[in-house]
Amino acid sequence: MQTSLIATPIQDVETGALILLSFEKEDREKAELFASVNSATGGWLAEIYDTAEFTGKSLTFALLHRPPGMKSRRVLAVGAGKRDRFDTAELRKAVAAGVRHLKAKSCRSIAVVLDPLWANPEYVSAAVEGAITGDFEPSRYKTAKEEECSLDSLTLVAPSTSAEWQEALDRGRILAEAQNFTRELVNEPANRMNPMVLADRARRLAEEQGLEFELLDRDRMAQLGMGALLGVAQGSDEPPALIILRYQPPKPASTNVHLGLVGKGVTFDTGGISIKPSDGMEKMKYDMAGGGAVLGAMRAIAQLKPPVAVTALIPAVENMPGGRAQRPGDIVTTLSGKTVEVLNTDAEGRLILADALTYARRLGCTHLVDAATLTGAIVVALGHVNVGVFSNNQDLLERLLSAAKEEGEKMWAMPLDDDYKEYLKSAFADIPNIGNRWGGAITAAMFLKEFVEDTPWVHLDIAGTAWLDDAKPFMAKGPSGVAVRTFVNLAMNWKA
Ligand code: BES
Ligand code: ZN
Ligand code: ZN
Repeated sequence: MQTSLIATPIQDVETGALILLSFEKEDREKAELFASVNSATGGWLAEIYDTAEFTGKSLTFALLHRPPGMKSRRVLAVGAGKRDRFDTAELRKAVAAGVRHLKAKSCRSIAVVLDPLWANPEYVSAAVEGAITGDFEPSRYKTAKEEECSLDSLTLVAPSTSAEWQEALDRGRILAEAQNFTRELVNEPANRMNPMVLADRARRLAEEQGLEFELLDRDRMAQLGMGALLGVAQGSDEPPALIILRYQPPKPASTNVHLGLVGKGVTFDTGGISIKPSDGMEKMKYDMAGGGAVLGAMRAIAQLKPPVAVTALIPAVENMPGGRAQRPGDIVTTLSGKTVEVLNTDAEGRLILADALTYARRLGCTHLVDAATLTGAIVVALGHVNVGVFSNNQDLLERLLSAAKEEGEKMWAMPLDDDYKEYLKSAFADIPNIGNRWGGAITAAMFLKEFVEDTPWVHLDIAGTAWLDDAKPFMAKGPSGVAVRTFVNLAMNWKA
């Protein structure tokens, strides 16, 4: 998709459709844009409000063909909700919904009008992000392409085309393309995406973007003593991989911070011997969404060049109930030296993350953030709306939550006090890999906490948010690419 920024008067914008954000109870006196669109459309805009055909309610639409006083073939009014609640997150969604609405009508060239009354460069980024993420379809394996149409060109009609605004456009494009890159990876079915395929994708990404790539294979992991990761991998014929990507900031470095991004990369989770019910098991191809998000973030980081060093670690395995699979009751020795009693082989994510987090500390990471589709319990707690956030460090937690807020990714801090340690007691090893019935997302996070020790760390449980069971007006069904933008924002905005 071509993206461009112009400051042309809206009447003169040549495009398939012009997207116009319109608020509830629009104040027509103050809104110059309203007046000019209204006159160029022969009074259409005032009329749809007056007749209540369109009220400006969030994510509603009104479409006009061949506006008499405009070069654009159509105008699409998109409801932007209440003016005082409008922000970049609302804009991102509204533009995405507008794009999806128009795509369904075979429109391939779209312009989005950013009103000088509220627009600033951040709104440019958000609008581009909305358009590009809204354009994504998980249709790679559909052979009949005619139903699908993706955008050819996107134009932003902004108050300025200066370097600052142009940079905002580029940043938005880079972020959204990284998010869609993640969604492509996550959508791959497990017969086409196993640990080595994921490693190959990471290698290709590193080559293209100028990142350092390293792969630890089974032998190397055995030498190091990653017993928890290898225990999960042993039930599958597909060999495991610990994927490592490194980004170095431009010299001279302004800080010694070394951020470690760790992503769960279970390319398929059958549950192992503690096998899952078959109903819905097909979705477990998205159990590498944390790893996918880390790879997407590294793609954008390589392009945007934040001031901090970033190392990505993705433990990649397939959790299968093969003849050599680990059994409930097995005791494994982790890289840290701690022993774990594997009471449930379906709680595999925390096992592979334990070794990856320990290794990240050995590589010198000063701050750790992991993303994982870790527990069904987080879906019970927060539904499909918020990412569950757990941390052992208030400063890092605040940085992460503010990055998430800026990127319009909903995240919610969960408790992690030592009282929950009660739930993780093993009679035969240092720690069991599951707790009791209650607070399952918290006990999973408590388990991880044992392995990060005193390193500042945030854990994102994205089990409820990495996959949309149904399409939204602003996003296709399937992988969401959650956490990519937050990770990049966190690295970009790192200040002492
Ligand atoms: N990958 C699953 C968690 C999951 C559940 C992700 C639903 C996406 C949607 C994880 O490996 C798992 O199976 N967790 C178990 C833990 C339990 C055995 C303590 C769970 O949540 O049921
Ligand atoms: Zn599992
Ligand atoms: Zn899993």
